[in-house]
Amino acid sequence: MKNPATQYFFGTFMHTPALDQLEILHDTLISVDAAGTILSVVCPDDPSYRESLDVAKAHKHFTSIGDNGFYLPGLVDTHIHAPQWPQLGKALHLPLENWLMDCTFPLESKYQDNAFATAMYTSLVETLLANGTTSAVYFATAHTRATEILAELCVEKGQRAWVGRVAMDDQQQCPDYYRDSSTDQGLRDSDDSIRTIRQLVGNESQRVKPILTPRFIPSCTDEMLAGLGELAKQHHCSVQTHCSESDWEHQYVIDRTGLRDTEALDKFGLLTRTTVLAHANFINHSDMSIIKNRGAGVAHCPLSNQYFAGSVFPLREALNLGVHVGLGTDISGGPSASQFDSCRHAISASRMLESGVDANLKADTRGIKNARIDYIEAFYLATTGGGVMLDEPIGMFRKGYAFDALHIDTSAINSNLLFFPEIDSQADLFQKTLYAATRTDIATVWVNGAVASGHRGS
Ligand code: GUN
Ligand code: FE
Repeated sequence: MKNPATQYFFGTFMHTPALDQLEILHDTLISVDAAGTILSVVCPDDPSYRESLDVAKAHKHFTSIGDNGFYLPGLVDTHIHAPQWPQLGKALHLPLENWLMDCTFPLESKYQDNAFATAMYTSLVETLLANGTTSAVYFATAHTRATEILAELCVEKGQRAWVGRVAMDDQQQCPDYYRDSSTDQGLRDSDDSIRTIRQLVGNESQRVKPILTPRFIPSCTDEMLAGLGELAKQHHCSVQTHCSESDWEHQYVIDRTGLRDTEALDKFGLLTRTTVLAHANFINHSDMSIIKNRGAGVAHCPLSNQYFAGSVFPLREALNLGVHVGLGTDISGGPSASQFDSCRHAISASRMLESGVDANLKADTRGIKNARIDYIEAFYLATTGGGVMLDEPIGMFRKGYAFDALHIDTSAINSNLLFFPEIDSQADLFQKTLYAATRTDIATVWVNGAVASGHRGS
């Protein structure tokens, strides 16, 4: 459905325009154009406030949430394996390499069945939207048609998305039943997938984008990696892959290529301004410099890392160096559909890194100093930070940014988010939301100014 030429949203808006900044905009009026882009943010101290508000209130498309909660920017999940959705909450007892071979590749191979793909992806996209994920960066599978189905569903359901056909052609690391039939065929399929997604009916605004997706170096031959690097250049297409995720994976790449993950990816032209590197737990200072110099970023997946990584991503160090960072659920390596959970786990992982975990060591030698992040920083990474990494104007309420928003309803029934106005400030409410909100508390979700989940026409 088409957006109205102009629409207005009124109420309290909370967002994190910078890593260490929570901004609360009370009684604020946001106008949005037909493309879903924010035209103006008018606060009570603006000289035009009274007049603008009068005009807006008289307008047919005026949405006010009054005192019934507040707006947050939509959440940006920078790393999701869409086909692993039916595996959420299962199979977390194995190391990465066995989990792939024994559980994940058999499941992903089922997506050659288009009906299965449609059912699973419909459930996924609807559930993530209901959880407030307005932007999603997806690994699909090696199947071109199922990848297209996922992209079509994102278009239809109104989610902003990056959708990648997974390239995996290495005979040693990929099973016969789930592998690109040849390197050339894999490259052709990735190329086709870019064109198809860009040309989807209803995707004229390119809200759904293709993204080149070498699964990770172990799954791909050098020829495949080089070919994908060429495609990235030729099509100006983003790239996503896993990078230095676990002890096994990190060492495997060094043994095969003589290079660290970042060095090898860079050699193949796969580190670009919009490359998303999932995990990156084992990156050192030199890797960070390479990533920073290319303008690429890291999808930090703190929950999944607890199961598969064997280490904690050095988040504070990366942020201090100016590396772009977003947060990811890594469904189903991370068993949660909520980016609020990613925020919570990013905070607790950083606290564990700072304090250390082995009580047999002296407290002052146990951890890494100043490693912690706080809730404001976590929310920045889940919104604005993801937008910066993807080079997309999303994640905050600013003129020129997309109106991707959540209405957090503080009167939702059966909620764990309890607000006591006698003692809680608005900033407390933000903090509590970050720690306690679930999908119950999200009344409406807008992407590009259009309702994508919750109350239609509120
Ligand atoms: N490395 C290669 N494939 C995967 C995957 O599906 N999940 C995770 N966490 N790591 C991977
Ligand atoms: Fe992953």
